[in-house]
Amino acid sequence: MTEAEITRYDGGVGVPRPVAAAVAHLRRRELLAPERKSLSDYSDSDARSVHFVARAGEQLAGYVQYDPEGRRLRQLIVASEYRAAGLGRALVAAVRDEGHRRGAPELRVHAWTDSVGFYRCVGFRPVGEVQVDGPVPWLALVMPL
Ligand SMILES: CC(C)(COP(=O)(O)OP(=O)(O)OC[C@H]1O[C@@H](n2cnc3c(N)ncnc32)[C@H](O)[C@@H]1OP(=O)(O)O)[C@@H](O)C(=O)NCCC(=O)NCCS
Repeated sequence: MTEAEITRYDGGVGVPRPVAAAVAHLRRRELLAPERKSLSDYSDSDARSVHFVARAGEQLAGYVQYDPEGRRLRQLIVASEYRAAGLGRALVAAVRDEGHRRGAPELRVHAWTDSVGFYRCVGFRPVGEVQVDGPVPWLALVMPL
């Protein structure tokens, strides 16, 4: 696995500066631009979610959220230079442990169809059909906890 350290931040506290700026940049480029969304579309779920930031030295290597309201993993990104080295799996494990610790029976994700293979690989199973209600088709998957 990439030598990245994962740090957890509660939604009420938020991700500290300057990491927040790097996270926002990564989210805009990798997730929000293809979805044609902005960070303000996520202000409610950002505020109630737990944030996990992976750093490799001074570099931002990855990011993910756990949203306790929907028992959902959200906004998973591994920076392109850190992919295919196990960091996505490690970020999913951090979220899985968070849900488990809170007593959630399962973890849900709404996955872009291009990333469904990854989610299956790390233990999720599809539920329902592919949804095409925006620019990026997605599929719901769940993992029992
Ligand atoms: C999807 C993403 C998070 C995967 O991160 P990663 O760090 O490269 O994944 P890992 O190295 O931890 O891979 C874990 C396993 O999934 C497999 N995998 C990764 N991407 C895959 C894919 N697209 N299809 C099938 N399997 C995949 C790996 O081969 C690995 O399998 P192994 O453990 O048996 O060797 C990353 O590619 C990414 O950030 N993509 C852009 C943003 C995105 O799509 N986010 C999800 C939106 S819902």
